[in-house]
Amino acid sequence: MRLKGKVAIITGAAAGVPGEMMGIGGAAAWLFVREGATVVIGDINEKQGRRTVAKLRESGGEALFQHLDVTSEQGWQGVVRETASRYGKLDILVNNAGIGILATVEETTVELWDAHMNVHARGAFLGTKYAIPEVRKAGGGSIVNVSSIHGITGSPTLAAYHAAKGAVRIFTKAAAIQYAKDKIRVNSVHPGYTMTPMTEPGFSIPDVMKAVMGRIPLGRLAKPEEIAAGILYLASDESSYVTGAELVIDGGVTAQ
Ligand SMILES: NC(=O)c1ccc[n+]([C@@H]2O[C@H](COP(=O)([O-])OP(=O)(O)OC[C@H]3O[C@@H](n4cnc5c(N)ncnc54)[C@H](O)[C@@H]3O)[C@@H](O)[C@H]2O)c1
Repeated sequence: MRLKGKVAIITGAAAGVPGEMMGIGGAAAWLFVREGATVVIGDINEKQGRRTVAKLRESGGEALFQHLDVTSEQGWQGVVRETASRYGKLDILVNNAGIGILATVEETTVELWDAHMNVHARGAFLGTKYAIPEVRKAGGGSIVNVSSIHGITGSPTLAAYHAAKGAVRIFTKAAAIQYAKDKIRVNSVHPGYTMTPMTEPGFSIPDVMKAVMGRIPLGRLAKPEEIAAGILYLASDESSYVTGAELVIDGGVTAQ
């Protein structure tokens, strides 16, 4: 019960139905509920999100689905308001929603650039901005931003995704410094290559898989639960002296 009594919002956590491929947010939702948290899932994938919430409830957990486009300021205001009025407070925010479309610099259109920056950078900014007053009222808490190893190093096939994840990484440190006085810790998680609904289409291309595997010292992809374990650590009071930090969970990729 590492999150007993805590109320958490996790974005992009729609893919969390047992027996189906889970996303990182979906896996985190299960860990959070298992550890005693109430979980509010905010996602644009309403059908999948509602199925996940139904399964979490069947397991005895308290969970709620909220339709949320993380790029929408009004959307964020509504979800934070609903969470606080229904559960009385907000302790934890996990900014996890994401998109990832392969395109080099020349292949990247302005629309694709904006889409990545909006979901990742603007999404984490708005979530943090609107969560802070509630987390402050709760006496402090934890914000976890899911960046990527691609927020730290480059790659041959992506451009906007790197820029957006790099923005999330450094935004995290600014927020950590500004809200340490309110006992609000803000950290980033940097997953390596993880099999999820988002990456499965790319990883099923044999050449892509071969190139990816060649870069991973531990010799295998991550499971979403292995990333969720890091998110849980940063969300819980076990990381009470950790803020502005980067938790890399990548099988050794960025150690090279
Ligand atoms: N899978 C990996 O290899 C990997 C590696 C590093 C970082 N990440 C990051 O981890 C996070 C989770 O990714 P995943 O691979 O588990 O994906 P996933 O398959 O769970 O899909 C991401 C989720 O985000 C939701 N989403 C997309 N746009 C949204 C929006 N505008 N508003 C609200 N929700 C939205 C989707 O509906 C989906 O449920 C992402 O931020 C991703 O960039 C993933």
